[in-house]
Amino acid sequence: MKAFYQLCILIGLVIKTHSGPVPLSSILDGRSCQFHQNYLKKLYNMKEEHTRSARSTDHSVSEMSEKLSEMQEFFGLKVTGTLDAETLEVMKKPRCGVPDVAGYNDATGSYKWTKKQLTYRIENYTSDMTQEEVDSSIGRALKVWADITPLRFSRIYSGVADIMISFPVRDHGDGSPFEGEGGFLAHAFVPSPAIGGDAHFDDDETFTFSSSKGYNLFLVAAHEFGHSLGLDHSRDPGALMYPMYSFRDVENFLLPQDDVSGIQALYGPNPDKPERPVPKPPVTPNACDDTLVLDAVTMLRGEIMFFKNAFFWRKQPLSYESEQHLIKSFWPEAPDNIDAAYESPSDDLVYLFKGQKVWALYDYDIAKGFPKTLSSIGLPPKVKKISAALYDQESGKTLFFVNDRYYSYDETTKKMDKGYPKRVEDSFPGMTGKVTAAFQYRDFTYLFSGPRMFEFSYGTLLRVLNNNYFLPC
Ligand SMILES: *[C@@H]1O[C@H](CO)[C@@H](O)[C@H](O)[C@H]1NC(C)=O
Ligand SMILES: [Zn+2]
Ligand SMILES: [Zn+2]
Repeated sequence: MKAFYQLCILIGLVIKTHSGPVPLSSILDGRSCQFHQNYLKKLYNMKEEHTRSARSTDHSVSEMSEKLSEMQEFFGLKVTGTLDAETLEVMKKPRCGVPDVAGYNDATGSYKWTKKQLTYRIENYTSDMTQEEVDSSIGRALKVWADITPLRFSRIYSGVADIMISFPVRDHGDGSPFEGEGGFLAHAFVPSPAIGGDAHFDDDETFTFSSSKGYNLFLVAAHEFGHSLGLDHSRDPGALMYPMYSFRDVENFLLPQDDVSGIQALYGPNPDKPERPVPKPPVTPNACDDTLVLDAVTMLRGEIMFFKNAFFWRKQPLSYESEQHLIKSFWPEAPDNIDAAYESPSDDLVYLFKGQKVWALYDYDIAKGFPKTLSSIGLPPKVKKISAALYDQESGKTLFFVNDRYYSYDETTKKMDKGYPKRVEDSFPGMTGKVTAAFQYRDFTYLFSGPRMFEFSYGTLLRVLNNNYFLPC
């Protein structure tokens, strides 16, 4: 499988150097890339075998193009119908093996259990974790769904349960083989007798109990049990039923609103009074919300990153599309709900701030020695948190905003400049409110205050816009 990945990546890179999409036929002329064909066949119900002999037929090309478009639409990618680098990047991500096309196997669509008392049985275990840890992860994953529906789960130790749970590898007799490490992590079957409801976890993956390394079994299982109960995949990147694996806060896990709505549409709410008051389910931030207030904005290697709650949008400045992701899907150890962010081009690091702490991101990792404290970068101890930060290209200084004041930091000497804090308004006339986010792009400085974004050019206020001005809606 690794070899296929590499072949696909190579093709992806070649495509990227062309300006504009490359017609699919030119890709098919190369060595056939089994990997993406399998992906589309398995997850998007592609029927044709697109082998070398089939590559010249228009029909097979158009089917693959159609399936690629369907997949690109599902993931909010630019719909080109061709295998571009972004599409391949998404295909390579570890994910659930259940198809993304709803009602894949059956035209009738939704499945559900007609009873409320369901049984489960853990047939065997992975050696990655202790049995107690597996039991606890599975139990907790079922509780996620029991908490908000009338469904109740009881464990049995022999015989056939509604939800049979096992850890097979490779071909395991259900027509959906796993393919070793990576790729598909698990799959589960929609409610029905026999195999219906069963959940299989690929034991060639490394499952974990509490850490952000490997794949957290509680998170994978909670997703799979969504299928066991009748849910399809969601396009909401914040939903538990999104097909890609993402680490999340396991300790304080809350089922997102999209999943709550999905499961309650099938089974209704929990009729029992909860033991403790239930917090509101998290909602994925919406770029179309005119009242959106961003947490932080920064450049990252030429892209603009807009942070909000547990999410960020990434956007190429000149492209209309943007992608939305959970912060933890890129940086499992990074915090949610950050205060500020900026990129230091000289360090090739992005710094995230929350409370007294600062994290430095390098690729998909947190740089060594982080998180550090605010005072370690020279901010006075009385500063308990900053509200925004930006790197000023012209001066090579980083500005740290604390509401309506700011400090100046020299990126070359790594020292705070003397004579600060100053009033923001003195340097940015017209900016009277608290600065809640900030970034610089080309010759423009953008200071955010609540839902408004102030556009400055060399200290002159040009326009007042909404926070979602750069985000496609
Ligand atoms: C666990 O059970 C599954 C399904 O019966 C089987 O395919 C797999 O080989 C078993 N794994 C182990 C380690 O026994
Ligand atoms: Zn799934
Ligand atoms: Zn299986």
